Amino acid sequence: MNSYNIAFIPGDGVGVEVTKAALDVLEAAARKYGFILTPTHYEWGCEYYLKQGQMMPDDGLALLEKSDAIFLGAVGWPEKVPDSVSLHGLLLPIRKQFDQFVNVRPHRLLKGAQGPLKKTDFNILCIRENTEGEYSGAGGRVHMGNPHEVAVETSIFTRHGVERILRFGFEQARLRSKKLASVTKSNAQKYSMVFWDEITDELAAEYPDVKVERYHVDAAAARMITHPESFDVIVASNLFGDILSDIGAAIQGGLGFAASANINPGRQMPSMFEPVHGSAPDIAGQGKANPVAAIWSGAMMLEHLGEKQAAGAIMSALNEVLNITDNCTPDMGGTATTAELADAIVRSL
Ligand code: NAI
Ligand code: MG
Repeated sequence: MNSYNIAFIPGDGVGVEVTKAALDVLEAAARKYGFILTPTHYEWGCEYYLKQGQMMPDDGLALLEKSDAIFLGAVGWPEKVPDSVSLHGLLLPIRKQFDQFVNVRPHRLLKGAQGPLKKTDFNILCIRENTEGEYSGAGGRVHMGNPHEVAVETSIFTRHGVERILRFGFEQARLRSKKLASVTKSNAQKYSMVFWDEITDELAAEYPDVKVERYHVDAAAARMITHPESFDVIVASNLFGDILSDIGAAIQGGLGFAASANINPGRQMPSMFEPVHGSAPDIAGQGKANPVAAIWSGAMMLEHLGEKQAAGAIMSALNEVLNITDNCTPDMGGTATTAELADAIVRSL
């Protein structure tokens, strides 16, 4: 029987509630499909920071490295801990240390989910570079506080980094409709984005079966609203992918539905799965959080681990259960609690 060690980091606020919901569903899937999930819980996050002065212990990354995958709820409690501290103390170190250079977000409407658009037949896979580009963190400030103060923030694009994210995009396109939208801004950014375009052309020669379409990011953003069905796989840099995937979340019904994976495709180190939303302090502890994004992220984790049947069954169960408003949380117009929705999905499984 296959067996997986999963590191669970519920984090803060609704992160705790949606992680519990996801684990209940994952364990039900494990029972049904005959594999073993061994969860290890790490109570790291802002509470931990307030007691210990750091978001996770010194050996935190070493502990996580032993797992087959990491599941994260959400971190952040802006009232007590600045977001720059909570983000840089937990989430970003995990992504960087484990070289999770691919961020994947699926955008489509589940049955019963209501997006703001009239068009509903879209199915987009947004692939974002996750370790370099505009978020490399290279820069500095001088003359702070003076009228002639200067801030410099440099984007870093390496051939290694650009090639590997584009290659991942081409491979995903091959598995889907063989269409890849490469999003840049090469009219305005004549070094990094032209470089990206050139590498796209080089790889396109290796993937003659994949049709490449190029968009500037502003046009792509508009097109995701007007013609979302015209996209399939989108590949973009860290900043552009960040923004486009939030549009994707909005059109699929909001943050409660937006799932994501931070992947190390070579599998040398664990990948991390997390709902896109944050700790939602405004509704935390009230059982109002929509657990769908977390459960969907859990299904992506099972898919990554090779439990494709179980992953597919969770997605079918989500579609079946959300079709009935009584099962839904308040953000979907229902009255069910986080736990009640999770229970309904477990029963459906
Ligand atoms: P947020 O995503 O926590 O909340 C934004 C809005 O969406 C709120 O009105 C919230 O109630 C609603 N919402 C979020 N998730 C929901 C769910 N599952 N069901 C129903 N409604 C939901 O973003 P916000 O308020 O900007 O950030 C709060 C904290 O979370 C901050 O500390 C921020 O840094 C952190 N954060 C952490 C992330 C992570 O761990 N990956 C991602 C985004 C924010
Ligand atoms: Mg974002």
